[in-house]
Amino acid sequence: MSSTTATPGALPDGLIALPGVYRPQADTHFLAEALAHEDLGPGRDVLEIGTGTGALALHAAGRGARVTAVDVSWRALMTARLNAARRRLPLRLLHGDFAARTAGHRFDLVFANPPYVPAPGGGLPSHGPERAWDAGPDGRAVIDRICARAPALLREGGSLLMVHSGMCGAAETVDRLSDAGLAAAVTAKTAVPWGPVLRGRRSWLEQRALAAPHEEWEELVIIRAVSV
Ligand SMILES: C[S@@+](CC[C@H](N)C(=O)[O-])C[C@H]1O[C@@H](n2cnc3c(N)ncnc32)[C@H](O)[C@@H]1O
Repeated sequence: MSSTTATPGALPDGLIALPGVYRPQADTHFLAEALAHEDLGPGRDVLEIGTGTGALALHAAGRGARVTAVDVSWRALMTARLNAARRRLPLRLLHGDFAARTAGHRFDLVFANPPYVPAPGGGLPSHGPERAWDAGPDGRAVIDRICARAPALLREGGSLLMVHSGMCGAAETVDRLSDAGLAAAVTAKTAVPWGPVLRGRRSWLEQRALAAPHEEWEELVIIRAVSV
């Protein structure tokens, strides 16, 4: 993750963020670039998993899509609601875990910038800003659940677009989505400088062979999967 911080900083296009809410960063912008190639026009039903400030959901709503956005964080939901009101754009906002809150609904496009930073300790944080990035010892706790859930979330011909770090295994994500019956591939890669969270975990990441000594750049990948 390029820079995982909840401290004040510039936000694009007049967005606001309540304290503790993940501010749009390099991974957000990389996913926005990928979304530019998707059909987000009127009549499209779209889901964002983990909306944070709502920046990407509002981008989709601005292009005409009917957007549902879900987040476990109340502060994120309040932030997204405020930003939607400021932009005068409609968002259907759901609080809670993405799988529980979307059961029985299917979408034309699902996109996610999920938590993906490998973190010491067994479980996921139950509160605090770390919920936006900490994702278990291999960084895959939420990614794997999205992979497993994707077929039930997508209409026929629908697509999943997800950004995450190469550190937690792009091939693993493609394999899981393929095993789930989707046509999946890595469609874009970029490199971004390590942010404070990775720098703070350097020795632990190196011990686990998740990072090479002196590594300072993180690979981000976009995975696209289609329901066929
Ligand atoms: C990396 S942030 C991305 C925020 C925003 N989409 C962006 O790109 O700037 C991940 C978001 O996912 C939310 N989240 C974490 N686990 C979740 C879950 N199981 N279901 C729904 N949202 C979740 C976090 O609260 C956080 O807002």
